Amino acid sequence: MSRNVRDEINNKLSIVDVVEKYLTLKRQGTRYIGLCPFHNEKTPSFSVDPANNLFYCFGCHKGGTIFDFIMEIENVGYGEALRILAEKAGVALDSNMDHNSEGYKNKQALKELYKRVSSSFTYILNNKEEASVAREYLLTRGVTKEISELFGIGWAPEDRSWLLKFLRSKGYSDNFLKESGLFSKRGLGSPLFSGRIMFPLKSQSGDIIGFSGRTLKDLGPKYINSPETEIFYKKRNLYGLSDAVKGIREKGYFILCEGQMDVIAYHQAGMNNAVAPLGTAYTEDQARLLKRYAEKAVISFDGDAAGQKAMMKAVQICEKLEIRTKIAIFEKNDDPSDLLRNKGPEALQNVLKSTINSFDYILENALNLYGTRTPDSKEAIIQQMSIYLNSIVSNVRKEGYIKEISEKIGVGTSSIVTDLKRGQRHSVIREQKEESPKPKQIKEEITLELFLMIAVIVNREKFAYVRSKIDINDLEEKRAKEIFIALEECYRNEETGFDSILRKLSDENLISLLSSKITSEEYSTNSDELIVDSVKNLKRRNLLKKRAELERKLGSFMNAGNSDISNEMELLSEKIFIDNEIEKLRLGK
Ligand code: UTP
Ligand code: MN
Repeated sequence: MSRNVRDEINNKLSIVDVVEKYLTLKRQGTRYIGLCPFHNEKTPSFSVDPANNLFYCFGCHKGGTIFDFIMEIENVGYGEALRILAEKAGVALDSNMDHNSEGYKNKQALKELYKRVSSSFTYILNNKEEASVAREYLLTRGVTKEISELFGIGWAPEDRSWLLKFLRSKGYSDNFLKESGLFSKRGLGSPLFSGRIMFPLKSQSGDIIGFSGRTLKDLGPKYINSPETEIFYKKRNLYGLSDAVKGIREKGYFILCEGQMDVIAYHQAGMNNAVAPLGTAYTEDQARLLKRYAEKAVISFDGDAAGQKAMMKAVQICEKLEIRTKIAIFEKNDDPSDLLRNKGPEALQNVLKSTINSFDYILENALNLYGTRTPDSKEAIIQQMSIYLNSIVSNVRKEGYIKEISEKIGVGTSSIVTDLKRGQRHSVIREQKEESPKPKQIKEEITLELFLMIAVIVNREKFAYVRSKIDINDLEEKRAKEIFIALEECYRNEETGFDSILRKLSDENLISLLSSKITSEEYSTNSDELIVDSVKNLKRRNLLKKRAELERKLGSFMNAGNSDISNEMELLSEKIFIDNEIEKLRLGK
Protein backbone atom coordinates (compact mmCIF):
# COMPACT_ATOMS: atom_id res chain seq x y z
CA MET A 1 0.00 0.00 0.00
CA SER A 2 2.81 2.39 0.81
CA ARG A 3 4.75 1.32 -2.25
CA ASN A 4 3.78 4.42 -4.23
CA VAL A 5 4.46 6.82 -1.42
CA ARG A 6 7.78 5.18 -0.83
CA ASP A 7 8.72 5.41 -4.49
CA GLU A 8 7.56 8.97 -4.68
CA ILE A 9 9.69 9.97 -1.71
CA ASN A 10 12.64 8.07 -3.06
CA ASN A 11 12.33 9.83 -6.41
CA LYS A 12 12.03 13.26 -4.89
CA LEU A 13 14.92 13.07 -2.46
CA SER A 14 18.54 12.68 -3.37
CA ILE A 15 20.42 10.52 -0.91
CA VAL A 16 23.21 13.08 -1.03
CA ASP A 17 20.91 15.74 0.44
CA VAL A 18 19.56 13.36 3.04
CA VAL A 19 22.98 12.20 4.19
CA GLU A 20 24.65 15.60 4.06
CA LYS A 21 22.61 16.76 7.01
CA TYR A 22 24.61 14.39 9.18
CA LEU A 23 28.09 14.33 7.68
CA THR A 24 30.29 16.02 5.14
CA LEU A 25 30.46 14.34 1.77
CA LYS A 26 33.13 14.73 -0.86
CA ARG A 27 32.62 13.98 -4.50
CA GLN A 28 34.65 11.11 -5.89
CA GLY A 29 33.80 10.24 -9.48
CA THR A 30 30.14 9.36 -9.67
CA ARG A 31 29.98 8.75 -5.93
CA TYR A 32 30.37 10.70 -2.72
CA ILE A 33 32.38 9.62 0.27
CA GLY A 34 32.58 10.63 3.91
CA LEU A 35 33.25 9.49 7.45
CA CYS A 36 30.82 6.75 8.40
CA PRO A 37 28.31 7.89 11.02
CA PHE A 38 27.78 4.34 12.24
CA HIS A 39 31.26 3.44 13.37
CA ASN A 40 34.34 5.34 14.40
CA GLU A 41 36.84 5.91 11.68
CA LYS A 42 39.50 8.34 10.57
CA THR A 43 39.57 7.62 6.85
CA PRO A 44 36.30 7.75 4.96
CA SER A 45 34.76 4.45 3.94
CA PHE A 46 31.16 5.59 3.79
CA SER A 47 30.04 5.81 0.20
CA VAL A 48 26.92 7.31 -1.33
CA ASP A 49 25.66 6.42 -4.77
CA PRO A 50 23.29 9.11 -6.05
CA ALA A 51 22.49 7.19 -9.25
CA ASN A 52 20.80 4.41 -7.30
CA ASN A 53 20.04 6.47 -4.19
CA LEU A 54 21.90 4.01 -1.97
CA PHE A 55 24.62 4.17 0.67
CA TYR A 56 27.17 1.63 1.75
CA CYS A 57 29.98 1.62 4.30
CA PHE A 58 33.02 -0.45 3.38
CA GLY A 59 34.11 -0.35 7.00
CA CYS A 60 31.07 -1.54 8.91
CA HIS A 61 29.10 -2.92 5.95
CA LYS A 62 25.96 -1.02 6.76
CA GLY A 63 24.12 -0.04 3.65
CA GLY A 64 20.73 0.53 2.08
CA THR A 65 18.19 3.11 1.02
CA ILE A 66 17.43 6.57 2.37
CA PHE A 67 14.86 4.90 4.61
CA ASP A 68 17.46 2.56 6.07
CA PHE A 69 19.78 5.47 6.59
CA ILE A 70 17.23 7.48 8.56
CA MET A 71 16.13 4.44 10.59
CA GLU A 72 19.71 3.83 11.56
CA ILE A 73 20.87 7.34 12.23
CA GLU A 74 17.74 8.65 13.92
CA ASN A 75 17.25 5.39 15.71
CA VAL A 76 13.62 5.11 14.62
CA GLY A 77 11.38 2.47 13.07
CA TYR A 78 10.35 2.33 9.46
CA GLY A 79 7.13 4.26 9.99
CA GLU A 80 8.87 7.19 11.61
CA ALA A 81 11.61 7.20 8.97
CA LEU A 82 8.93 7.31 6.30
CA ARG A 83 7.31 10.23 8.07
CA ILE A 84 10.55 12.19 8.41
CA LEU A 85 11.41 11.73 4.77
CA ALA A 86 7.86 12.36 3.54
CA GLU A 87 7.96 15.68 5.27
CA LYS A 88 11.32 16.51 3.78
CA ALA A 89 10.08 15.57 0.34
CA GLY A 90 6.76 17.34 0.76
CA VAL A 91 4.85 14.14 0.10
CA ALA A 92 1.56 13.60 1.89
CA LEU A 93 1.30 10.34 3.77
CA ASP A 94 -1.82 8.30 3.41
CA SER A 95 -3.38 8.79 6.82
CA ASN A 96 -4.77 5.27 7.20
CA MET A 97 -1.22 4.04 6.87
CA ASP A 98 -0.53 5.47 10.23
CA HIS A 99 -1.81 3.36 13.12
CA ASN A 100 -1.93 6.32 15.36
CA SER A 101 -3.07 8.97 12.98
CA GLU A 102 -4.76 11.25 15.53
CA GLY A 103 -1.60 11.42 17.56
CA TYR A 104 0.43 11.84 14.45
CA LYS A 105 -1.70 14.72 13.22
CA ASN A 106 -1.50 16.41 16.57
CA LYS A 107 2.27 16.19 16.58
CA GLN A 108 2.41 17.60 13.08
CA ALA A 109 0.11 20.42 14.11
CA LEU A 110 2.26 21.21 17.15
CA LYS A 111 5.38 21.33 15.03
CA GLU A 112 3.65 23.65 12.58
CA LEU A 113 2.58 25.85 15.45
CA TYR A 114 6.05 26.10 16.93
CA LYS A 115 7.55 26.81 13.54
CA ARG A 116 5.07 29.59 12.92
CA VAL A 117 5.49 31.13 16.38
CA SER A 118 9.23 30.93 16.11
CA SER A 119 9.38 32.70 12.78
CA SER A 120 7.16 35.42 14.16
CA PHE A 121 9.46 35.88 17.14
CA THR A 122 12.43 36.08 14.81
CA TYR A 123 10.71 38.61 12.63
CA ILE A 124 9.84 40.75 15.64
CA LEU A 125 13.39 40.63 16.95
CA ASN A 126 14.83 41.77 13.66
CA ASN A 127 12.25 44.36 12.69
CA LYS A 128 10.24 45.79 15.55
CA GLU A 129 11.05 48.86 17.57
CA GLU A 130 10.15 47.19 20.87
CA ALA A 131 12.91 44.63 20.31
CA SER A 132 15.70 47.17 19.95
CA VAL A 133 16.88 46.53 23.54
CA ALA A 134 17.16 42.85 22.69
CA ARG A 135 19.09 43.55 19.51
CA GLU A 136 21.51 45.73 21.43
CA TYR A 137 21.84 43.16 24.16
CA LEU A 138 22.69 40.42 21.66
CA LEU A 139 25.26 42.70 20.06
CA THR A 140 26.96 43.28 23.39
CA ARG A 141 27.17 39.52 23.73
CA GLY A 142 28.76 39.31 20.30
CA VAL A 143 25.93 37.37 18.69
CA THR A 144 26.26 38.09 14.99
CA LYS A 145 23.37 38.21 12.53
CA GLU A 146 24.57 34.93 11.08
CA ILE A 147 24.62 33.10 14.41
CA SER A 148 21.30 34.63 15.36
CA GLU A 149 19.79 33.26 12.17
CA LEU A 150 21.37 29.83 12.56
CA PHE A 151 19.87 29.45 16.01
CA GLY A 152 16.62 31.17 15.07
CA ILE A 153 16.79 33.63 17.96
CA GLY A 154 13.73 35.83 18.40
CA TRP A 155 11.81 38.18 20.68
CA ALA A 156 8.52 37.49 22.43
CA PRO A 157 6.55 40.78 22.67
CA GLU A 158 5.99 42.41 26.06
CA ASP A 159 2.26 42.59 25.34
CA ARG A 160 0.83 39.54 27.06
CA SER A 161 -2.23 39.42 24.85
CA TRP A 162 -0.28 39.39 21.59
CA LEU A 163 0.36 35.67 21.19
CA LEU A 164 -3.23 34.57 21.73
CA LYS A 165 -4.59 37.24 19.38
CA PHE A 166 -2.06 36.32 16.76
CA LEU A 167 -2.74 32.59 16.95
CA ARG A 168 -6.51 32.96 17.04
CA SER A 169 -6.29 35.10 13.92
CA LYS A 170 -4.47 32.22 12.24
CA GLY A 171 -7.39 29.93 13.03
CA TYR A 172 -6.00 27.89 15.91
CA SER A 173 -8.65 26.64 18.31
CA ASP A 174 -8.46 27.48 21.99
CA ASN A 175 -8.55 23.82 22.90
CA PHE A 176 -5.53 23.08 20.80
CA LEU A 177 -3.66 26.10 22.16
CA LYS A 178 -4.37 25.08 25.76
CA GLU A 179 -2.37 21.91 25.23
CA SER A 180 0.34 23.55 23.18
CA GLY A 181 2.81 24.31 25.96
CA LEU A 182 2.88 27.99 24.98
CA PHE A 183 0.56 29.10 27.78
CA SER A 184 0.70 28.64 31.52
CA LYS A 185 -1.63 26.37 33.44
CA ARG A 186 -3.62 29.42 34.46
CA GLY A 187 -4.99 29.61 30.95
CA LEU A 188 -4.76 31.35 27.64
CA GLY A 189 -4.54 34.71 29.35
CA SER A 190 -1.04 33.82 30.53
CA PRO A 191 1.50 33.21 27.81
CA LEU A 192 4.65 31.55 29.14
CA PHE A 193 6.90 33.91 27.29
CA SER A 194 6.63 37.67 27.06
CA GLY A 195 9.36 40.28 26.92
CA ARG A 196 12.02 37.63 26.49
CA ILE A 197 14.75 36.73 24.04
CA MET A 198 13.62 33.47 22.54
CA PHE A 199 15.83 30.49 21.77
CA PRO A 200 14.01 27.79 19.80
CA LEU A 201 14.77 24.24 20.87
CA LYS A 202 15.09 21.84 17.98
CA SER A 203 14.71 18.11 17.64
CA GLN A 204 17.46 16.09 16.07
CA SER A 205 15.87 16.46 12.70
CA GLY A 206 15.69 20.21 13.11
CA ASP A 207 12.00 20.65 13.94
CA ILE A 208 11.25 23.31 16.53
CA ILE A 209 9.77 21.59 19.57
CA GLY A 210 9.99 24.18 22.33
CA PHE A 211 11.57 27.41 23.52
CA SER A 212 13.85 28.78 26.14
CA GLY A 213 13.30 32.46 26.87
CA ARG A 214 15.75 34.80 28.61
CA THR A 215 14.61 37.91 30.39
CA LEU A 216 16.66 41.11 30.25
CA LYS A 217 15.40 42.29 33.61
CA ASP A 218 16.58 41.47 37.09
CA LEU A 219 13.16 40.21 37.96
CA GLY A 220 11.88 36.63 37.91
CA PRO A 221 13.68 33.58 36.59
CA LYS A 222 16.48 34.33 34.13
CA TYR A 223 15.38 31.58 31.77
CA ILE A 224 11.98 30.01 31.27
CA ASN A 225 11.79 26.76 29.34
CA SER A 226 8.89 25.12 27.52
CA PRO A 227 7.17 22.29 29.34
CA GLU A 228 7.25 18.80 27.91
CA THR A 229 4.65 18.14 25.24
CA GLU A 230 3.94 15.36 22.80
CA ILE A 231 6.85 16.55 20.70
CA PHE A 232 9.26 17.70 23.41
CA TYR A 233 10.87 15.24 25.75
CA LYS A 234 13.55 17.04 27.73
CA LYS A 235 15.68 14.13 28.67
CA ARG A 236 16.14 13.02 25.09
CA ASN A 237 16.94 16.31 23.44
CA LEU A 238 19.90 18.60 23.60
CA TYR A 239 20.17 22.24 22.76
CA GLY A 240 22.09 22.71 19.51
CA LEU A 241 22.31 19.03 18.61
CA SER A 242 20.84 19.30 15.13
CA ASP A 243 23.35 22.03 14.28
CA ALA A 244 26.25 20.27 15.98
CA VAL A 245 25.98 16.73 14.60
CA LYS A 246 28.22 17.45 11.65
CA GLY A 247 30.84 19.17 13.77
CA ILE A 248 30.80 16.40 16.35
CA ARG A 249 31.39 13.76 13.68
CA GLU A 250 34.15 15.71 12.06
CA LYS A 251 35.96 16.59 15.25
CA GLY A 252 35.40 13.23 16.92
CA TYR A 253 34.18 14.75 20.18
CA PHE A 254 31.37 16.84 21.56
CA ILE A 255 31.54 19.80 23.91
CA LEU A 256 28.98 19.54 26.68
CA CYS A 257 27.98 22.94 28.10
CA GLU A 258 25.57 24.12 30.75
CA GLY A 259 23.41 26.49 28.78
CA GLN A 260 22.38 27.75 25.40
CA MET A 261 24.49 30.90 25.56
CA ASP A 262 27.54 28.69 26.00
CA VAL A 263 26.65 26.61 22.96
CA ILE A 264 26.20 29.79 20.98
CA ALA A 265 29.49 31.17 22.31
CA TYR A 266 31.35 28.14 21.02
CA HIS A 267 29.76 28.55 17.61
CA GLN A 268 30.76 32.21 17.63
CA ALA A 269 34.32 31.17 18.33
CA GLY A 270 34.21 28.77 15.40
CA MET A 271 33.53 25.54 17.29
CA ASN A 272 30.41 23.90 15.96
CA ASN A 273 30.34 20.78 18.11
CA ALA A 274 28.82 22.13 21.34
CA VAL A 275 25.52 21.06 22.91
CA ALA A 276 23.73 21.58 26.24
CA PRO A 277 20.90 19.91 28.13
CA LEU A 278 17.67 21.89 28.06
CA GLY A 279 16.84 23.22 31.48
CA THR A 280 17.54 19.87 33.14
CA ALA A 281 20.51 17.94 34.38
CA TYR A 282 22.46 15.97 31.80
CA THR A 283 20.95 12.50 31.45
CA GLU A 284 22.08 9.06 30.37
CA ASP A 285 19.63 9.16 27.46
CA GLN A 286 21.35 12.26 26.19
CA ALA A 287 24.77 10.68 26.60
CA ARG A 288 23.63 7.63 24.66
CA LEU A 289 22.37 9.85 21.89
CA LEU A 290 25.67 11.68 21.71
CA LYS A 291 27.67 8.50 21.76
CA ARG A 292 26.27 7.67 18.36
CA TYR A 293 28.28 10.56 16.97
CA ALA A 294 31.46 10.52 19.06
CA GLU A 295 32.97 8.66 21.98
CA LYS A 296 34.91 11.55 23.41
CA ALA A 297 33.70 14.62 25.22
CA VAL A 298 34.93 17.88 26.61
CA ILE A 299 32.91 18.91 29.63
CA SER A 300 32.64 22.67 29.68
CA PHE A 301 30.73 23.77 32.73
CA ASP A 302 30.77 27.01 34.73
CA GLY A 303 33.62 27.61 37.13
CA ASP A 304 31.27 28.07 40.10
CA ALA A 305 30.44 25.43 42.70
CA ALA A 306 27.19 24.40 41.02
CA GLY A 307 28.97 24.02 37.72
CA GLN A 308 31.68 21.88 39.28
CA LYS A 309 29.18 19.62 40.92
CA ALA A 310 27.28 19.18 37.68
CA MET A 311 30.58 18.53 35.95
CA MET A 312 31.34 15.58 38.24
CA LYS A 313 27.94 14.10 37.48
CA ALA A 314 28.37 14.60 33.74
CA VAL A 315 31.79 12.94 33.80
CA GLN A 316 30.32 9.97 35.62
CA ILE A 317 27.46 9.58 33.15
CA CYS A 318 29.88 9.73 30.22
CA GLU A 319 32.39 7.31 31.71
CA LYS A 320 29.69 4.80 32.51
CA LEU A 321 28.84 4.73 28.81
CA GLU A 322 32.51 4.61 27.90
CA ILE A 323 32.67 8.13 26.60
CA ARG A 324 36.14 9.47 27.47
CA THR A 325 36.06 12.89 29.05
CA LYS A 326 38.27 15.92 29.37
CA ILE A 327 37.57 19.07 31.31
CA ALA A 328 37.61 22.63 30.02
CA ILE A 329 38.66 24.96 32.79
CA PHE A 330 37.09 28.30 33.62
CA GLU A 331 37.76 30.83 36.34
CA LYS A 332 35.45 30.83 39.32
CA ASN A 333 32.89 33.25 37.95
CA ASP A 334 33.33 32.52 34.29
CA ASP A 335 31.59 30.43 31.72
CA PRO A 336 32.28 30.00 27.99
CA SER A 337 30.02 32.84 27.08
CA ASP A 338 31.54 35.26 29.63
CA LEU A 339 35.03 34.36 28.49
CA LEU A 340 34.12 35.01 24.88
CA ARG A 341 32.57 38.34 25.76
CA ASN A 342 35.45 39.52 27.92
CA LYS A 343 38.49 38.06 26.22
CA GLY A 344 37.43 37.14 22.69
CA PRO A 345 37.31 33.95 20.61
CA GLU A 346 41.01 33.10 20.97
CA ALA A 347 40.62 32.85 24.73
CA LEU A 348 37.86 30.30 24.29
CA GLN A 349 39.82 28.39 21.69
CA ASN A 350 42.76 28.29 24.10
CA VAL A 351 40.63 26.80 26.82
CA LEU A 352 39.83 23.97 24.45
CA LYS A 353 43.48 23.52 23.61
CA SER A 354 44.38 23.09 27.24
CA THR A 355 41.72 20.71 28.46
CA ILE A 356 42.72 18.27 31.20
CA ASN A 357 41.98 14.59 31.57
CA SER A 358 39.09 14.26 33.95
CA PHE A 359 41.04 11.94 36.24
CA ASP A 360 43.94 14.36 36.61
CA TYR A 361 41.56 17.23 37.12
CA ILE A 362 39.45 15.57 39.77
CA LEU A 363 42.46 14.19 41.63
CA GLU A 364 44.26 17.52 41.56
CA ASN A 365 41.17 19.22 42.99
CA ALA A 366 40.84 16.66 45.75
CA LEU A 367 44.54 16.97 46.63
CA ASN A 368 44.28 20.74 46.79
CA LEU A 369 41.12 20.60 48.83
CA TYR A 370 42.18 18.09 51.47
CA GLY A 371 45.97 17.86 51.38
CA THR A 372 47.61 14.53 52.15
CA ARG A 373 48.92 15.00 55.65
CA THR A 374 46.48 13.12 57.83
CA PRO A 375 44.74 9.76 57.44
CA ASP A 376 41.44 11.69 57.51
CA SER A 377 42.41 13.77 54.52
CA LYS A 378 43.50 10.64 52.67
CA GLU A 379 40.18 9.03 53.35
CA ALA A 380 38.37 12.12 52.13
CA ILE A 381 40.37 12.03 48.91
CA ILE A 382 39.51 8.39 48.29
CA GLN A 383 35.88 9.12 48.97
CA GLN A 384 35.86 11.93 46.46
CA MET A 385 37.68 9.81 43.88
CA SER A 386 35.54 6.76 44.40
CA ILE A 387 32.52 8.27 42.69
CA TYR A 388 34.62 8.81 39.61
CA LEU A 389 36.58 5.57 39.71
CA ASN A 390 33.48 3.45 40.17
CA SER A 391 31.99 4.83 36.99
CA ILE A 392 34.95 3.71 34.90
CA VAL A 393 34.24 0.59 32.91
CA SER A 394 37.76 -0.50 32.01
CA ASN A 395 39.43 -2.29 34.91
CA VAL A 396 42.80 -1.74 33.35
CA ARG A 397 42.38 2.01 33.36
CA LYS A 398 40.95 1.94 36.85
CA GLU A 399 43.94 -0.07 38.00
CA GLY A 400 46.29 2.51 36.54
CA TYR A 401 44.51 5.36 38.28
CA ILE A 402 44.54 3.56 41.61
CA LYS A 403 48.30 3.14 41.35
CA GLU A 404 48.65 6.83 40.67
CA ILE A 405 46.53 7.80 43.65
CA SER A 406 48.41 5.33 45.81
CA GLU A 407 51.72 6.98 44.92
CA LYS A 408 50.41 10.50 45.40
CA ILE A 409 48.92 9.97 48.85
CA GLY A 410 51.17 7.21 50.10
CA VAL A 411 48.54 4.54 50.71
CA GLY A 412 48.76 0.96 49.45
CA THR A 413 46.63 0.01 46.45
CA SER A 414 44.91 -2.82 48.30
CA SER A 415 43.45 -0.44 50.92
CA ILE A 416 42.21 1.81 48.17
CA VAL A 417 40.63 -1.11 46.34
CA THR A 418 38.78 -2.33 49.43
CA ASP A 419 37.51 1.13 50.25
CA LEU A 420 36.34 1.57 46.70
CA LYS A 421 34.40 -1.68 46.84
CA ARG A 422 32.75 -0.54 50.03
CA GLY A 423 31.75 2.72 48.38
CA GLN A 424 30.29 0.82 45.46
CA ARG A 425 28.15 -1.36 47.69
CA HIS A 426 26.73 1.71 49.37
CA SER A 427 25.85 3.31 46.09
CA VAL A 428 24.25 0.12 44.82
CA ILE A 429 22.01 0.03 47.84
CA ARG A 430 21.09 3.66 47.32
CA GLU A 431 20.25 3.12 43.68
CA GLN A 432 18.01 0.19 44.48
CA LYS A 433 16.15 2.21 47.06
CA GLU A 434 15.57 5.04 44.67
CA GLU A 435 14.21 2.80 42.00
CA SER A 436 11.89 0.63 44.04
CA PRO A 437 8.75 2.83 44.02
CA LYS A 438 8.18 2.55 40.27
CA PRO A 439 8.52 -1.07 39.28
CA LYS A 440 5.96 -1.09 36.49
CA GLN A 441 7.78 1.02 33.94
CA ILE A 442 10.03 -1.60 32.41
CA LYS A 443 7.13 -3.95 31.76
CA GLU A 444 7.33 -4.53 28.07
CA GLU A 445 10.84 -3.71 27.12
CA ILE A 446 11.81 -5.48 23.93
CA THR A 447 15.30 -6.72 24.49
CA LEU A 448 17.68 -7.56 21.71
CA GLU A 449 17.01 -11.27 22.19
CA LEU A 450 13.28 -10.87 22.16
CA PHE A 451 13.49 -8.60 19.15
CA LEU A 452 15.40 -11.24 17.22
CA MET A 453 12.99 -13.98 18.20
CA ILE A 454 9.97 -11.94 17.12
CA ALA A 455 11.67 -11.13 13.84
CA VAL A 456 12.20 -14.85 13.25
CA ILE A 457 8.59 -15.63 14.04
CA VAL A 458 7.52 -13.03 11.51
CA ASN A 459 10.01 -14.31 8.94
CA ARG A 460 9.94 -18.00 9.64
CA GLU A 461 12.08 -19.03 6.68
CA LYS A 462 15.02 -17.36 8.42
CA PHE A 463 15.07 -19.72 11.36
CA ALA A 464 17.37 -22.15 9.55
CA TYR A 465 19.92 -19.38 9.27
CA VAL A 466 19.50 -18.28 12.88
CA ARG A 467 19.91 -21.77 14.33
CA SER A 468 23.08 -22.21 12.27
CA LYS A 469 24.53 -19.13 13.97
CA ILE A 470 23.34 -19.29 17.55
CA ASP A 471 22.04 -21.86 19.95
CA ILE A 472 19.91 -21.75 23.04
CA ASN A 473 22.95 -21.07 25.23
CA ASP A 474 23.54 -17.77 23.51
CA LEU A 475 20.25 -16.56 24.93
CA GLU A 476 19.83 -15.39 28.49
CA GLU A 477 16.31 -14.22 28.68
CA LYS A 478 13.58 -16.63 29.67
CA ARG A 479 11.04 -15.43 27.13
CA ALA A 480 13.53 -15.56 24.26
CA LYS A 481 14.57 -19.06 25.28
CA GLU A 482 11.00 -20.20 25.33
CA ILE A 483 10.41 -18.91 21.83
CA PHE A 484 13.64 -20.41 20.57
CA ILE A 485 12.64 -23.84 21.84
CA ALA A 486 9.19 -23.51 20.28
CA LEU A 487 10.75 -22.49 16.98
CA GLU A 488 13.14 -25.39 17.13
CA GLU A 489 10.31 -27.87 17.71
CA CYS A 490 8.30 -26.43 14.85
CA TYR A 491 11.33 -26.54 12.64
CA ARG A 492 11.93 -30.21 13.34
CA ASN A 493 8.27 -31.14 12.91
CA GLU A 494 8.01 -28.98 9.81
CA GLU A 495 5.09 -27.10 11.29
CA THR A 496 4.79 -23.69 9.70
CA GLY A 497 1.75 -21.89 11.11
CA PHE A 498 1.95 -19.02 13.56
CA ASP A 499 -0.56 -20.91 15.67
CA SER A 500 1.69 -23.89 16.10
CA ILE A 501 4.28 -21.68 17.75
CA LEU A 502 1.82 -19.98 20.04
CA ARG A 503 0.46 -23.37 21.12
CA LYS A 504 3.91 -24.29 22.38
CA LEU A 505 4.18 -21.22 24.59
CA SER A 506 2.84 -21.03 28.10
CA ASP A 507 3.41 -17.40 29.11
CA GLU A 508 0.12 -15.50 28.52
CA ASN A 509 1.78 -12.11 28.48
CA LEU A 510 4.29 -13.29 25.96
CA ILE A 511 1.56 -14.63 23.69
CA SER A 512 -0.34 -11.35 23.71
CA LEU A 513 2.87 -9.41 23.20
CA LEU A 514 3.71 -11.56 20.18
CA SER A 515 0.24 -11.19 18.74
CA SER A 516 0.52 -7.44 18.90
CA LYS A 517 3.98 -7.38 17.37
CA ILE A 518 3.47 -9.81 14.58
CA THR A 519 1.54 -7.35 12.45
CA SER A 520 3.85 -4.43 12.96
CA GLU A 521 5.86 -3.40 9.95
CA GLU A 522 8.90 -3.02 12.11
CA TYR A 523 9.72 -6.70 11.79
CA SER A 524 8.84 -7.33 8.18
CA THR A 525 10.66 -4.57 6.35
CA ASN A 526 14.28 -5.33 5.59
CA SER A 527 13.92 -8.58 7.41
CA ASP A 528 17.14 -10.04 6.00
CA GLU A 529 19.36 -7.30 7.34
CA LEU A 530 17.31 -7.06 10.48
CA ILE A 531 17.95 -10.67 11.35
CA VAL A 532 21.56 -10.80 10.24
CA ASP A 533 22.28 -7.66 12.23
CA SER A 534 20.47 -8.88 15.33
CA VAL A 535 22.36 -12.16 15.26
CA LYS A 536 25.58 -10.23 14.96
CA ASN A 537 24.65 -7.88 17.78
CA LEU A 538 23.74 -10.78 19.98
CA LYS A 539 27.03 -12.51 19.36
CA ARG A 540 28.84 -9.28 19.89
CA ARG A 541 27.06 -8.67 23.15
CA ASN A 542 27.96 -12.14 24.40
CA LEU A 543 31.58 -11.69 23.39
CA LEU A 544 31.77 -8.33 25.10
CA LYS A 545 30.36 -9.87 28.25
CA LYS A 546 32.90 -12.62 28.16
CA ARG A 547 35.64 -10.11 27.60
CA ALA A 548 34.48 -7.96 30.52
CA GLU A 549 34.50 -11.02 32.72
CA LEU A 550 38.03 -11.86 31.62
CA GLU A 551 39.12 -8.30 32.21
CA ARG A 552 37.64 -8.46 35.66
CA LYS A 553 39.58 -11.62 36.40
CA LEU A 554 42.75 -10.13 34.99
CA GLY A 555 42.18 -7.06 37.10
CA SER A 556 41.82 -9.04 40.28
CA PHE A 557 45.00 -10.88 39.40
CA MET A 558 46.83 -7.62 39.28
CA ASN A 559 45.18 -6.33 42.44
CA ALA A 560 46.17 -9.40 44.35
CA GLY A 561 49.73 -9.01 43.09
CA ASN A 562 49.46 -12.65 42.15
CA SER A 563 52.53 -14.12 40.56
CA ASP A 564 50.85 -17.06 38.88
CA ILE A 565 52.02 -16.03 35.42
CA SER A 566 50.84 -19.06 33.49
CA ASN A 567 47.27 -18.63 34.62
CA GLU A 568 47.38 -14.95 33.80
CA MET A 569 48.78 -15.68 30.37
CA GLU A 570 45.99 -18.10 29.73
CA LEU A 571 43.41 -15.47 30.56
CA LEU A 572 45.21 -12.99 28.36
CA SER A 573 45.33 -15.30 25.37
CA GLU A 574 41.66 -16.03 25.81
CA LYS A 575 41.02 -12.34 25.84
CA ILE A 576 43.03 -11.88 22.66
CA PHE A 577 41.02 -14.65 21.03
CA ILE A 578 37.80 -12.91 21.99
CA ASP A 579 39.10 -9.55 20.80
CA ASN A 580 39.75 -11.22 17.47
CA GLU A 581 36.26 -12.63 17.28
CA ILE A 582 34.82 -9.22 18.04
CA GLU A 583 36.92 -7.67 15.32
CA LYS A 584 35.85 -10.35 12.85
CA LEU A 585 32.24 -9.63 13.64
CA ARG A 586 32.85 -5.95 13.15
CA LEU A 587 34.30 -6.61 9.74
CA GLY A 588 31.35 -8.82 8.91
CA LYS A 589 33.34 -12.01 8.46
P1 UTP B 1 23.30 29.99 33.84
O1 UTP B 1 22.72 30.81 34.93
O2 UTP B 1 24.72 29.63 33.90
O3 UTP B 1 22.95 30.73 32.50
O4 UTP B 1 22.42 28.69 33.69
P2 UTP B 1 23.93 31.25 31.38
O5 UTP B 1 23.92 30.28 30.28
O6 UTP B 1 25.22 31.64 31.94
O7 UTP B 1 23.09 32.50 30.90
P3 UTP B 1 23.58 33.95 30.56
O8 UTP B 1 24.95 33.81 30.01
O9 UTP B 1 23.53 34.73 31.82
O10 UTP B 1 22.57 34.42 29.57
C1 UTP B 1 22.76 27.65 32.81
C2 UTP B 1 21.54 27.07 32.17
O11 UTP B 1 20.60 26.64 33.13
C3 UTP B 1 19.27 26.87 32.69
C4 UTP B 1 19.39 27.42 31.28
O12 UTP B 1 19.31 26.38 30.34
C5 UTP B 1 20.77 28.04 31.30
O13 UTP B 1 21.30 28.17 30.00
N1 UTP B 1 18.56 27.86 33.52
C6 UTP B 1 19.21 28.84 34.18
C7 UTP B 1 17.21 27.79 33.58
O14 UTP B 1 16.58 26.90 32.97
N2 UTP B 1 16.52 28.71 34.32
C8 UTP B 1 17.15 29.71 34.97
O15 UTP B 1 16.48 30.56 35.60
C9 UTP B 1 18.54 29.77 34.92
MN1 MN C 1 26.51 30.15 32.81
